[in-house]
Amino acid sequence: MSAQVKKGDQRHAVTLTVNGRERTGEAAPRMLLSDFLRHEMGCLGLHVGCEHGVCGACTILRDGRAERSCTQYAVQAEGADIRTVESFSGEDGLNDLQRAFRRHHALQCGFCTAGILASATEFLERNKAPSEAQVRDMLSGHICRCTDYSGMVRAILEVAQARGGEGGE
Ligand code: FES
Ligand code: FES
Repeated sequence: MSAQVKKGDQRHAVTLTVNGRERTGEAAPRMLLSDFLRHEMGCLGLHVGCEHGVCGACTILRDGRAERSCTQYAVQAEGADIRTVESFSGEDGLNDLQRAFRRHHALQCGFCTAGILASATEFLERNKAPSEAQVRDMLSGHICRCTDYSGMVRAILEVAQARGGEGGE
C-alpha cells in the first residue's frame, strides 16, 4: 500500500499569534486547538484534562476572551490572538494575580491553575469590583480536585481590590 495521506488527515498551515508572536504551524482538520498549542507551539503550561469542555483546565485567552481550547479545532484559530499562561507573568516574574494565588495557597498540584488564571484574568478585566458570589460563579466553570476554591476566591478578591475596585457582597 502506498503511503498516501488520507484526505481527512491532510495537514493545513495555521497562522496565528501566540503569546505576542506570529507563528505558523500545521494541523490536521480534526486536531484540537489544545493539542496544537501544546505540541506544535510548545505551550506546555496549557493543561488538558477532560478534553470535552467540562473541567476548564485547557482554558486560554482567545482575542481577550477566556475559552476552552479543547472544544475548537486548530484550523478554526487562523488569525486568532491566543494567550496561554506562559504570557501572564511580566518581566519581573509572576504577575499580581499569580502572586496572590501563591500567597493564598490557591493551588496544590497546579493542574487546574493555568486555566483558572486565564478565566480570572478576563473576569478581572470585566469586573473591577466583583462580589464573592460573582467570583465563585466564574470559578464554577473549573474543576479543581485539590483545593476547596476558597484560596482562589480570596486571591481574586484581593487583586480586584488592589487594582482599585472595592468589591461587593
Ligand atoms: S480539557 Fe478542555 S475543558 Fe477539560
Ligand atoms: S490544584 Fe490540583 S487540580 Fe487544582
